[in-house]
Amino acid sequence: MDSKIINGNSIEEMKKLEDGCVNLIFADPPYWMRVEGVLQRVEGTDFDGCMDEWDQFESLKDYEAFTKEWLSECYRVLKPDGSIWVIGGMQCIYTIGAIMQDIGFWLINDIVWHKKNPTPNFKGTRLNNSHETLIWATKSKKSKFTFHYKTAKELNRDNVDDEAFADGTRKQMGSVWKIAVCSGNERLKDDNGEKLHTTQKPEELLYRIIAISSNIGDMVMDPFGGTMTTGAIAKRLGRKYLMIEREKRYYEYGKKRIDGEAFEDSDIAHAVFDKKPLKVSVPDMIRDGFFVENEYFYLKDGTRGGKLQSDGKLLYKGKRVDMHSLAANIKGVKARRLNGFLNWYVKRDSELVSIEDIREAYRKQKEQQIHE
Ligand SMILES: C[S@@+](CC[C@H](N)C(=O)[O-])C[C@H]1O[C@@H](n2cnc3c(N)ncnc32)[C@H](O)[C@@H]1O
Repeated sequence: MDSKIINGNSIEEMKKLEDGCVNLIFADPPYWMRVEGVLQRVEGTDFDGCMDEWDQFESLKDYEAFTKEWLSECYRVLKPDGSIWVIGGMQCIYTIGAIMQDIGFWLINDIVWHKKNPTPNFKGTRLNNSHETLIWATKSKKSKFTFHYKTAKELNRDNVDDEAFADGTRKQMGSVWKIAVCSGNERLKDDNGEKLHTTQKPEELLYRIIAISSNIGDMVMDPFGGTMTTGAIAKRLGRKYLMIEREKRYYEYGKKRIDGEAFEDSDIAHAVFDKKPLKVSVPDMIRDGFFVENEYFYLKDGTRGGKLQSDGKLLYKGKRVDMHSLAANIKGVKARRLNGFLNWYVKRDSELVSIEDIREAYRKQKEQQIHE
């Protein structure tokens, strides 16, 4: 299936899709905010909260029925190893979470999006509501869903400041994300320069989600497209997108937004941090001239170890031993094995060269050959 932007009702549109055709779903449904009257800022001006027609429901029963219907379609169209993210506020997230579990979704994480710049509680009558919740789930407990753990570390700035990050500090991404609400140039305006949509989500939020839980070329679906933030970021990250939005106005502005996006080729997009290194063996490296049979392996201080054999073992004091055990033995450490690649060197032009560096050079050559 190719990327598509549809102007229509998501439940009806999803019904037209085949089973298991999308890899990732991000859904930002109506929250049924139940805002009454016009909210006013302290200085007396009106605050434009979400009182849109698309966010109105008659009763909790109605909202539950709607939620059940669209989530059931999401369940059907999601691939067995895909995953879904649903965002909601306190008004709806408990209803959504319960229905997701009824349908059969398996919850992996709930994430708090901690807004760096939340809307104040103008009247000071209760706590300032400064977060929204995301539920991340799979189709079943057994799903082998995509999660780029190391890429997430590269994107995590929640508990790593700029200085530490520049010095190479990386920490596990947690379940509290500190991201500013969408504002400034990122906020879509209509032809009169007015804010187009009341609930446009920040690009940084979608960037994290799509980068860590999908792959280049995957199909990302959003049944409540709005300003098409999901489609724009999916395209930027080299994913395909299927966007559905009922309101013509949002559909048209959103379509223009996606048309203006381009793929940004990056290590994050490719999740290179999570790529497993190519498997190579010492006998292969001997065959391809990266090592020489019967050459000596040395420790960093120049201590001579064993002589390299054609099967990758080292001949030492008349015995054939593996390089990892021999490194531990000669270094006299308690461990029975050390990583030989990090301990052994060979001589090239009378200089000691790490065999790990040689293995890396070999991998690079092999990868190049694979891509040619
Ligand atoms: C919370 S907003 C999504 C905002 C979006 N994430 C963004 O960043 O702009 C929900 C959107 O869903 C649309 N919507 C509501 N019910 C729908 C339905 N049944 N089918 C398709 N779209 C619907 C609304 O028009 C609204 O634009």
